[in-house]
Amino acid sequence: MIIAGNWKMHLTRAEAGALARDLAARKVAAGVRRLVFPADPLLDTVRSAIEGTDIGLGGQNCHEAMEGAHTGDVSPAMLVDSGCSWVLLGHSERRLGHGESDAVIAARVKAAQEAGLRVILCVGETATERNSGHAEKRIREQLEGSLPERAQADRLAVAYEPVWAIGSGQTATGDDISAMHGLCRRTLGDIDPALAACPILYGGSVKPDNAAAIFATAVDGVLVGGVSLDAEGFHAICRIAADFGLA
Ligand code: PGA
Repeated sequence: MIIAGNWKMHLTRAEAGALARDLAARKVAAGVRRLVFPADPLLDTVRSAIEGTDIGLGGQNCHEAMEGAHTGDVSPAMLVDSGCSWVLLGHSERRLGHGESDAVIAARVKAAQEAGLRVILCVGETATERNSGHAEKRIREQLEGSLPERAQADRLAVAYEPVWAIGSGQTATGDDISAMHGLCRRTLGDIDPALAACPILYGGSVKPDNAAAIFATAVDGVLVGGVSLDAEGFHAICRIAADFGLA
């Protein structure tokens, strides 16, 4: 079970250090893998706070080039140098807010994996796509378009995050999550049989109240935004995951 916290553009270094130390002091069951994704200026502070613990560190995005004239971007090599072993790619706030296309994301997945990073590739349909019956088609297109040829299966997880569920308090139903996860797994297998066993997470308004219903759908973990800024809430989700993972 992967429990990933996407801290987005929140927290000062002092706040991030305190949150990371709080998480580091809490023990989770062996089957639960905690990951945190702070904003780039916080990476070093968080890295020091979680050193020697089971918590993994990741960046929220990266460029496809290893270095160069790309103002405002960070490279996969810089994330590795900052202590990251993971990176989020294709989050809807990047796809929709920054116009990142499937092709750009595929190039980033390739570069990140080549640099040794593990990738959580995010996909998700908008409310309009879902309401017009195009959710499955959209997810299939995003997976096919955002994965490079010969993506490394051991360095890949997918997060299905319906855009309408992110930060809205609305969560997909268990049946919808199961259906979309099945679709993601089949599509990954069609792209390359080696990818069929990659972890598939769910994201979108995950909280302690709905975590049990989400874990009951056989997801391999969750990507948590808002609640991940609260150590107690994040830890509660980890405890619920442990009950399912170890059952
Ligand atoms: P949320 O964010 O949990 O606040 O909905 C999830 C995400 O954007 O990854």
